[in-house]
Amino acid sequence: MPVITCIDDLKRLYQRRAPRMFYDYTESGSWTEQTFRENTSDFADIRLRQRIAVDMSGRSTASTMIGEDVTMPVALAPVGLTGMQCADGEIKAARAAEAFGVPFTLSTMSINSIEDVAEATTKPFWFQLYTMKDEDFLRRLIERAKAAHCSALVITLDLQILGQRHKDIRNGLSAPPKLTPATIANLMTKWRWGIGMLGAKRRHFGNIVGHVEGVSDAANLGAWTAEQFDPSLDWAKVAKLKEMWGGKVILKGILDAEDARMALKVGADAIVVSNHGGRQLDGALSAIRALPAILDAVGDKVEVHLDSGIRSGQDVLKALALGARGTYIGRAFVYGLGAMGQAGVETALEVIRKELDTSMALCGRRNVTDLDRDVLLIPEDFEGRWQD
Ligand code: GLV
Repeated sequence: MPVITCIDDLKRLYQRRAPRMFYDYTESGSWTEQTFRENTSDFADIRLRQRIAVDMSGRSTASTMIGEDVTMPVALAPVGLTGMQCADGEIKAARAAEAFGVPFTLSTMSINSIEDVAEATTKPFWFQLYTMKDEDFLRRLIERAKAAHCSALVITLDLQILGQRHKDIRNGLSAPPKLTPATIANLMTKWRWGIGMLGAKRRHFGNIVGHVEGVSDAANLGAWTAEQFDPSLDWAKVAKLKEMWGGKVILKGILDAEDARMALKVGADAIVVSNHGGRQLDGALSAIRALPAILDAVGDKVEVHLDSGIRSGQDVLKALALGARGTYIGRAFVYGLGAMGQAGVETALEVIRKELDTSMALCGRRNVTDLDRDVLLIPEDFEGRWQD
């Protein structure tokens, strides 16, 4: 068994074990990758305030997200193609989240379907929705999530069109991978992945293939998005989706205070401050930098979550101390999944839980629900001074 001490250990193992095409898909941002880089480097700019001689006994990382009990406020983010990182990846990640007591969010662009995940788990998971032009398909997708007893609909609002990630184009990213000479050469070095995939329940986009007609290339994420996603999605449509769903709604992709106010107006149960892991608008602010202004605008009226850039428990601590109620990990759990399957996702969660717990204690706090800005040292100009 490899010794895993941190998320980076899982990432190294993941890089060795997963096909290059899928590793690159995870490890890319759009265009120059400025926002992708700053999502993590801006976390590093915030420092923690060490306190001493404080009773550290009886600590807890437990909290709630949209009223659901969580053992720590760290959900698994929706990540497309998770079932290509390792066979039955969404099922394994969902089971790990369930065993750990945190929410799992299934992406529309998953390999395992909504029904596969529902069958393999006992607790409700969250379903992330991309808005398609095909209203019938959209309606059926929502009905399927309802039938699977998903407890929240996470509507992604920052991907009506896809930001370009250069490596995906160069690699000819597809699910399943197209067998070009370069891909075959790479897959030959990934025997563990290949053996798993031979027995996988699915190797295509499970929520789509067999559920929609007239798609020219459902294996190609870029082509599918350009053809099927609804570029006319606006706030009126968001309100309509919320009505169609009828349950809890989380709006993901908020990076601006004005948009946060709009999300509040349509009655979101929570919003997710996110720039899609730096995969959409390159040049946008990092999520952690955007968080304070959004909290100022709506933080007392709606639950605010943060996604994009979290790779450690210290990062979780910083987001919570700034005022986020919950956080998400995407890449950090995918590293674990690609490295060691379900056990790897559980390891990623345990690494983060331990880092969060220990860091919190060393900041002199015992409960994640009691964190505030007093535990942080924030650079004076952290939010930036931008001209009006
Ligand atoms: C899709 O969600 C992507 O970022 O690739």
